[in-house]
Amino acid sequence: MSQFIDAFARKFYYLRLSVTDVCNFRCTYCLPDGYKPQGVTNKQFLTLDEIRRLTAAFAAAGTEKVRLTGGEPSLRRDFTDIIATVKQTPGIRQLAVTTNGYRLARDVAQWRAAGLDAINVSVDALDARQFHAITGQDKFHQVMAGIDAAFSAGFEKVKVNAVLMRDLNDHSLHTFLAWIKTRAIQLRFIELMETGEGSALFRRHHVSGEVIRQQLLMQGWQLQERGRSDGPAQVFRHPDYLGEIGLIMPYEKDFCTHCNRLRVSAVGNLHLCLFGDGGVPLRDLLVQDDQQAELQARIAHSLGEKKQTHFLHQGQTGITQNLSFIGG
Ligand code: 5AD
Ligand code: SF4
Repeated sequence: MSQFIDAFARKFYYLRLSVTDVCNFRCTYCLPDGYKPQGVTNKQFLTLDEIRRLTAAFAAAGTEKVRLTGGEPSLRRDFTDIIATVKQTPGIRQLAVTTNGYRLARDVAQWRAAGLDAINVSVDALDARQFHAITGQDKFHQVMAGIDAAFSAGFEKVKVNAVLMRDLNDHSLHTFLAWIKTRAIQLRFIELMETGEGSALFRRHHVSGEVIRQQLLMQGWQLQERGRSDGPAQVFRHPDYLGEIGLIMPYEKDFCTHCNRLRVSAVGNLHLCLFGDGGVPLRDLLVQDDQQAELQARIAHSLGEKKQTHFLHQGQTGITQNLSFIGG
């Protein structure tokens, strides 16, 4: 099977796979009212066997990096088995997870042993009360202990995501910088994205990452080169800091040009973009091991539909009510 490629010659090295919709946090920009099961109750998420077949098909077509997301992926009881299964797939060189950090302190050593290569933890504020206000969970210290546990378990670097929000954390750059001065943390500011349910919040709190970029440049931070399976962050380094700063600015011109990722939801739908597509069902081709060729053909065909860019600028968020089902 040849490399997955779209009509704009973008190659896809990177699969973001959601393994559950369920989340125990209530981040204001994502699930302000908490997780509510949608549609059919007791919805079944992809099984371990389905995940294995899906990953194998992507890997055979050039995918080298997989990120497990949710919801909160670590709420799955078989999460460590999922890590081991994906990591053992030939061709997968890098396996990452995005987590709210809730289970890190308890489980990260086990994940590491199962083959996990990289971790992204969401931390929107370095103040316990503000953290609570944003996530609906009084778990700041638990998440911080989780990050420490990740370093102890052997991760050399940890990525931390902070959604940039006006009046909440857009004036906290110095606090974040002090934190990463002696820690190998890549702190990534993600511009708030407008979702179907989050329009009011967006109007109140969206602020461009440009504000941060200007401050970084003025303080001597330097933009780094980007690798082919790297995410969309612009990464900055500074000789006086062990940590790095990343900026993710989805509203910036040409943000989509280097898109190298495909997404699969927890029920097995292929999403070509975070925004605005209904998803291509793949689950009927995840039933048996002998369906791999058909599965790859469906994915390759669907890629012909991938649009050049999202339509967020026109205020179109597509079907994306919130990002919990596909993990950001
Ligand atoms: N805007 C920006 N980022 C979001 N995330 C979730 N919802 C949004 C949104 N509306 C991101 C957060 C979190 C990751 C799982 O998804 O950065 O860390
Ligand atoms: Fe849960 Fe992540 Fe959404 Fe926060 S952003 S509510 S941690 S899925």
